[in-house]
Amino acid sequence: MGEKCIDKLLAEQMIEKATEALAYAYAPYSGFKVGASLLTSAGEIYTGCNIENAAYSPGNCAERTAVFKAVSEGQKEFKAICIVNEGPDHGHDYCAPCGVCRQVMMEFCDPEEFVIILAKGAGDYRCYLLEELQPLGFGPGNLKKS
Ligand code: THU
Repeated sequence: MGEKCIDKLLAEQMIEKATEALAYAYAPYSGFKVGASLLTSAGEIYTGCNIENAAYSPGNCAERTAVFKAVSEGQKEFKAICIVNEGPDHGHDYCAPCGVCRQVMMEFCDPEEFVIILAKGAGDYRCYLLEELQPLGFGPGNLKKS
């Protein structure tokens, strides 16, 4: 686990918000519910849950729901995201973001600064930097002319 994380009280608040969002997860096909909370640089918290679909591929992860909600409301600078989950067996484990969500984070977040909090529940979490989970990631900077 990386050393860098956000303030402990704030991390706990994010776990609480992500857990609230988990209750709204729409996951009738996998039974795997996910909740996310996203902290903006201004200190606001946006939440998201996974939303599945009978056609499967249109389904959306909790992390992207939170990012898209925030960006659609004018927020584009983020400090951290927190992810919680509840499996079909009602168990909780550390749930790492999928590759597509990591790529979406690359679009808006500094990989050296953005913190990803994987939480099992209150007081039980691990922190990573985006650059640890997405090494050599491709982002907007790669498209700039040198
Ligand atoms: N899922 C998320 O929402 N976030 C993750 O980090 C991993 C996977 C969702 C997608 C799908 O609805 C379900 O969990 C099973 O993959």
